[in-house]
Amino acid sequence: MKELAKITPEEFIQRRKALMEKIGKNSIAIIPSSEVKYRNSDAEFAFRQNSDFLYLTGFNEPKSVAVILPGREESEYILFCREKDPKTEQWTGRMVGLDGAVEDYNADDAFPIDDIDDILPSLMENRSKVFYSVGNNPDFDKQVISWVNSLRAKVRNGVQAPHEFVSLDVFLHEMRLFKSPQEQQLMRDAGAVSVRAHQRAMKACNAGMMEYEIEAEYLHEFKKAGMDAAYTTIVGGGEWGCILHYVENNDVLKDNELLLIDAGAENQGYASDITRTFPTNGKFTDAQRQLYQVVLDAQYAAIEQCKPGNRWIDPHDAAVRVITTGLVELGLLEGSIDKLIGDKEYFPFYMHKTGHWLGLDVHDVGDYKIDDEWRELKAGMTLTVEPGLYISPSKDVDEKWWNIGIRIEDDLLITESGNEVLTAELLKEVDDIEAWMAD
Ligand code: GLY
Ligand code: MN
Ligand code: MN
Repeated sequence: MKELAKITPEEFIQRRKALMEKIGKNSIAIIPSSEVKYRNSDAEFAFRQNSDFLYLTGFNEPKSVAVILPGREESEYILFCREKDPKTEQWTGRMVGLDGAVEDYNADDAFPIDDIDDILPSLMENRSKVFYSVGNNPDFDKQVISWVNSLRAKVRNGVQAPHEFVSLDVFLHEMRLFKSPQEQQLMRDAGAVSVRAHQRAMKACNAGMMEYEIEAEYLHEFKKAGMDAAYTTIVGGGEWGCILHYVENNDVLKDNELLLIDAGAENQGYASDITRTFPTNGKFTDAQRQLYQVVLDAQYAAIEQCKPGNRWIDPHDAAVRVITTGLVELGLLEGSIDKLIGDKEYFPFYMHKTGHWLGLDVHDVGDYKIDDEWRELKAGMTLTVEPGLYISPSKDVDEKWWNIGIRIEDDLLITESGNEVLTAELLKEVDDIEAWMAD
């Protein structure tokens, strides 16, 4: 079994350096980890690190705070974390500890998290700007304010308290938007595992099975590869395929229905996000095939627009045009294509955008507009392309289309010359799906 490629320590150092350059010398950046969350009494949810914290540290423990102090001679990167404690480790597993934070994670210094209230205010002294993203954790927000206030109380002793709070998001999320070659590889690997999972599910699927049995096929492939689901897997047969975020996954798959599955693996924090739609019994009906082809053509048209220099919205606009044209050709809409698009008449059937940034968050960070204009696509950005059609029962629509829900989603990297479809291996042509399921 091949070991997973990892982000190197040098890359984490380089990321912190890049952030230091952006925030400048008279600043301090404070980035807290995620907290453990509980399912019930003392049973925990699986821990998922805060993506900003993970991006800058690679450190995967709760009760930790990263502090970045550009230009500070003694230490520019301090990690507050849990002290190693054999008794706790006996119950909840190994901890990195203070020495490990320095030796293995390249912190210049590490302190016990329990001492943070005593130490942090002095680190803020004489730094004019605090880079901190308010609003994610109200308790931690209060803690940060209390540190600033404790300094303000000492101004008559000549202590200078920071006087500017700046959201860290602006710099950090712009950095996260552009994926390094190492990040691209982790996303490629996540994509490859998701492709395998979708192939496996397509093979396993039969009418009469339960949706959760199909979900199990995905989780099996993810876990076998040392990965987790990047988000709650959506397995929607028939009408449930028309519910965008259906996650109950507890209905029986009926004959002659389509099955929509939106499932992706997460590799060391990096998400993949794939949707495929296929017939439960392996054979598309005429109506299903016709609508499916419209969505597939829309996806190809959108992918073609994913290249440097194009605007973020261009793939969506291309998809909307193909979908609207298809809906007219199949008799679900009537009128001039331009007018139907202008009036958003496609919206009852296609109510979401054609994609989103993808990375450490499945709906990744990064602005979509700059100065109120859709931003340009550039090499290194990663995004999904996921047009769909969802036909709910309605008196305005011929019954033969009812309860057909289709989405086709792949993950893309923008390259200098166009794009790389990170999940291209997964088949999506009607004939290929039918052949694969018949095999
Ligand atoms: N899986 C969530 C999405 O496609 O946006
Ligand atoms: Mn998506
Ligand atoms: Mn998805």
